[in-house]
Amino acid sequence: MKGLKKIVPSQRTQHIEYAIRDIVLLANKRKKAGGDLFYLNIGDPVLYDFKTPIHLIEASSKAMFENHTSYAQSEGIPEAIDAIHKDCLKDKINPFDIMITTGASEAIDFALSALVNRGDNVLLPSPGYPLYSALLARLLGESRYYKLDEDNNWMPDIDHLVSQIDDKTKAIAVINPNNPTGAVYSEKTLRDIIEVARQHNLVILSDEIYSKLIMNGQPHIPMATIDNEVPMVTFNGLSKSYLCPGFRIGWGITTGEPELISDFVEGMKKLARARLCACHPKQYAISVALNGNHDHLIEALDKLKKRRDLTVERLNSIKGISCQKPNGAFYAFPKVHLDVDDEEFVKQLIKETGVVVVHGSGFGPYPKSPHFRIVFLPSEDILNEAYNRIEAFMKRHTG
Ligand SMILES: Cc1ncc(COP(=O)(O)O)c(C=O)c1O
Repeated sequence: MKGLKKIVPSQRTQHIEYAIRDIVLLANKRKKAGGDLFYLNIGDPVLYDFKTPIHLIEASSKAMFENHTSYAQSEGIPEAIDAIHKDCLKDKINPFDIMITTGASEAIDFALSALVNRGDNVLLPSPGYPLYSALLARLLGESRYYKLDEDNNWMPDIDHLVSQIDDKTKAIAVINPNNPTGAVYSEKTLRDIIEVARQHNLVILSDEIYSKLIMNGQPHIPMATIDNEVPMVTFNGLSKSYLCPGFRIGWGITTGEPELISDFVEGMKKLARARLCACHPKQYAISVALNGNHDHLIEALDKLKKRRDLTVERLNSIKGISCQKPNGAFYAFPKVHLDVDDEEFVKQLIKETGVVVVHGSGFGPYPKSPHFRIVFLPSEDILNEAYNRIEAFMKRHTG
């Protein structure tokens, strides 16, 4: 140790938080002590009883046997880009650029990194998926939150959104269907947001990673189908709709008036070239996924619907908890009608019952009232046992 000094992490790591994985540390403690655990915290269908469609596995394995184990083109293999392009045309979207990335996460990273300078801000939904704020912390940018209104099915509060804009605002992030509320947005809501972006010269970052996981038959409306002028990056991928998050395959589709977006796209492309490429053999699953059968969705949506209904019914029957019905993704975001800090509530819940959920404040500062996020991917037996334990816990704490 002589002469060696302690390594100090950079300032940019100081404010990075990711509640979804942080909470696992606490759960592990209970496990070590011999306690049982009910994982209602992981947004990964494959860790429960959902299986990756076999034709995706075959396509990527075949690609490996056929020696597609070299680096690929930085923007992605032509066959995959072509398949995404054709999918866009079906929806009457005219993409300016398509980039295949390491999950939608990397496309989100590229878009924010190519947009945000130190001190710039991006409008994020609250509650919303915390990757955006973690990336903005790394970029020394500011996360500015706009409220989603629980009393209005968690729809964005457009007046609040507008009130958050200033001359440092670069973009509006929209997550539809939303993580953690499961809300699916109407065309009117999406149009209103697009008009705000047009008036204030902002880029729209439209996260549509759960677009095929909608349980009530409500159509998913890709934002880029509504407008082809306003700069927009749409994020999607294989992780959720095609049940293979470990493939780490996603994409970003940039649309808008070419003159307005060409430099921005070039910025993203530079970042893509610097990291070489997304996983080459797994990219061969993209065209097979988009063009192949979607039978896996029939079973997945059937399971999700039953588990969603059970979740909403059981939670709303517990004194001190209320829960809006989610129509998309696989999350519910119940409210706790107690005067508690939600992180403390969740820690106590894990300690006493082994039911692992994520505290609501991990998804942003609004709403101010305590909430937690439940992943309703587990089987009905597991969910029922978890809800029995939450019910008993609430009885103990509400008297
Ligand atoms: C809203 C949202 N966007 C993006 C991602 C990450 O997607 P990927 O696995 O494609 O990186 C997630 C993962 O949970 C998510 O919930």
